[in-house]
Amino acid sequence: NEEIVKILKEKIPENSLARLVFEKEEEKTLIEKHLYRYTRRNTTDYFIHKDLKGFLEKELDFYIKNEFLNLEDLKVLEESGYFDKLRLYLIGVRAFRNIALKIIEFLAQIENFQKKIWEKKKFVIDTHYVITLDKIKEYAEEEFLESILDEILKNEKQLEEWKELFGIEIKSKNDLIEKNTLQGKEWKKLPIDTKYFDEEFKWKLLVALTKENDMDEILDGVLIKSENWHGLNLLLGKFKEKAKCIYTDPPYNTGSDEFLYKDNYQHSCWLTMMENRLKLAKELMRLDGVIYVSIDDNERYHLEKLMSNIFGENNLIGPIIVQVNKGGRDYLPIAKQQEYVVCCTLNRQTELVREREISEFKYEDLKGKFLPRELRNRNPKFTRENRPNLYYPFFVNPNNKDRYGFRAVSLQKTDYHTIKVLPKNVKGEDSCWRWGKEKVLKYLDPNNPENCEIVARQKKDGGWNIYEKYRGSPEKSRSLWLDSKFRTENGSIQLRNLLGKHIYDFPKPVDLIEELCSYSTTRSEIVIDFFAGSGTTAHAVMKLNKEDGGKRKFILVEMADYFDTVIIPRIKKVAYSFNWKEGRPQDTDGIGFFFKYHTLEQYEDALENIEFEQPQKTLYELTDYFVKYMLEWETKGSKTFLNIDEMKDPFNYKLKIIKNYQQKIVNVDLVETFNYLIGLNVSRYEVLQENGRKYVFVFGDKDGKRIAVVWRSIKDIDFEKDREVIEVKLKESEPDEIYINGEALVKRFRHIEPLFKSLMFEEVE
Ligand SMILES: C[S@@+](CC[C@H](N)C(=O)[O-])C[C@H]1O[C@@H](n2cnc3c(N)ncnc32)[C@H](O)[C@@H]1O
Repeated sequence: NEEIVKILKEKIPENSLARLVFEKEEEKTLIEKHLYRYTRRNTTDYFIHKDLKGFLEKELDFYIKNEFLNLEDLKVLEESGYFDKLRLYLIGVRAFRNIALKIIEFLAQIENFQKKIWEKKKFVIDTHYVITLDKIKEYAEEEFLESILDEILKNEKQLEEWKELFGIEIKSKNDLIEKNTLQGKEWKKLPIDTKYFDEEFKWKLLVALTKENDMDEILDGVLIKSENWHGLNLLLGKFKEKAKCIYTDPPYNTGSDEFLYKDNYQHSCWLTMMENRLKLAKELMRLDGVIYVSIDDNERYHLEKLMSNIFGENNLIGPIIVQVNKGGRDYLPIAKQQEYVVCCTLNRQTELVREREISEFKYEDLKGKFLPRELRNRNPKFTRENRPNLYYPFFVNPNNKDRYGFRAVSLQKTDYHTIKVLPKNVKGEDSCWRWGKEKVLKYLDPNNPENCEIVARQKKDGGWNIYEKYRGSPEKSRSLWLDSKFRTENGSIQLRNLLGKHIYDFPKPVDLIEELCSYSTTRSEIVIDFFAGSGTTAHAVMKLNKEDGGKRKFILVEMADYFDTVIIPRIKKVAYSFNWKEGRPQDTDGIGFFFKYHTLEQYEDALENIEFEQPQKTLYELTDYFVKYMLEWETKGSKTFLNIDEMKDPFNYKLKIIKNYQQKIVNVDLVETFNYLIGLNVSRYEVLQENGRKYVFVFGDKDGKRIAVVWRSIKDIDFEKDREVIEVKLKESEPDEIYINGEALVKRFRHIEPLFKSLMFEEVE
């Protein structure tokens, strides 16, 4: 790439517009950014053979049988008595095989080494938190919020971000207050992002927020910037069988260039990519969970086959057919209008149902809102003949009607109830009702249509229909979604209104994902999306929560830079308001928010961090050293494989990472990495400055056990004093298990390092 840039610099004349590509954006020039992205996209190959040795050995035998062992030749040699030649022949084959096996062994060493790097759980590189002011007040009290206001108001980057996102200039404390009410101050839903602050501020905030609250309970979302296989693999420790709904929208593999990421795999490669990720997704699903995958005709068939293999044939309950384009794509042989959402469950009992939103109902009576639903059974399978008990007359009182024209009914003919109505289909033939007389009787008030659950209304042709007043019971999803709100164009319009410019191609409409979530979650469950794109799933979950007062949480994984440029700003904006035009909020009706986001070490980063050490000379004398063991042995001290010695100073554990297209050396977040590895439900953080160093205590639980994790540097430590600091703190919470890094004099604790290492390299199925 450097070479290309050099040549371009020579070739592009000064004063030419094209020289704009050499303008710097952050640390790299535009052309460098694009070159980096292009080479990464076209050189990264995520396909590592799971058992290269076994595969090549089988291929070798096949090759030897086909190419070497010509049975005719062997027979002739044997029959002609040329046993020496026969022996030579066989020695040749054996020699070839032995050499080939060594080569296979060597190749397998390399492939297995790559597999180990791919499968190892990745480090959390950094963790930041975003919380709106109103939520700080809610969780950490106003006094704490007031105590950090000066620091916030001095933070230019934070103020600048608010200006950019919301178009408001904040100069003083008063600018942060939405309004003063009788209940006290109402703070603006402006988000603080800890990336603009130092570590000390971050810890202070976390400690304050978790003093009275459980951390994982108050967090509304988690975002992970990572290749999704690694993201899901790390999440498994904590979120196994926790997701109620997974929505995901993978690249459709259409090869179209509009995508910046790789979108032109062979069917088989695309399927392998999907298979690996869907298998992890399945492990994350609750038994009553649902997974939705958006797709078009290009891969639908393959995807359905794959999903029925993974989730079970009977659990493939989809697809939902969505009309995404009213006019259809005219350039195709058939102008296609639809895409699909393939749906799978983990068992046949799970259905796509939801409580119908009662506020949508237009009609109202003494008991509240309702929708009239015909009582006649429209299923032609049920008839007067096979359901005689469902065939009986109603009698309508035509003179007693409510404001909508509904009349009360009775099962008896009376002086008032004079009109007889029988269940008849449109052709006037006998059919039957849905309810029997006994059930109907419980719901009748023949003299008051306002209080009668079964009512009649006259049709235009003079005949009568009988209705049940439907007051909201479970509603099942239909398979055809034709509403205009699901059309693709809406996704783009919504996102452009929110961000004020076009940055992301083809986001899904918020309503589509909101609707899917409404059928598969109730109020406080977890929704995961691991091809998050512009973060529509987060937006949809927030909107649904706003509408039904739910507390659903989301976890999103995305590897591209949209993570920082679209998803995070999007959530910050939606938390402030749901209503945007040209990038500016139209009200302040958001719900406020608290989420955290991580960047994970990537496969390429792990490769970069491999360091070779000189082995002892004697190893060279072992016959198989180079062929089988060299890579494993000489790289074992690499930090990406966890260097235990370096963990003595855990807040300074460093890795080389590619960030903003440049390699940087950064501190790794061992605390969060370990939390994920052991699957800790974090409830509280405490941070102390004692014994000349920082102590971080994490409290939480796992499998019903109360757990405490303690981190501090043990460089030049006074272990006696250290014991005191730790024991005093732990006494308050009496954990069942205690994990501490490095040595300690504390009673009955477990060392973090060996567990960290074994969990990091746990076999993936
Ligand atoms: C079709 S888009 C998703 C759009 C999203 N539903 C929305 O509404 O914005 C697919 C996204 O997956 C991301 N992606 C592709 N392969 C990935 C991988 N292996 N890991 C993580 N993200 C990936 C791409 O960067 C892209 O943003």
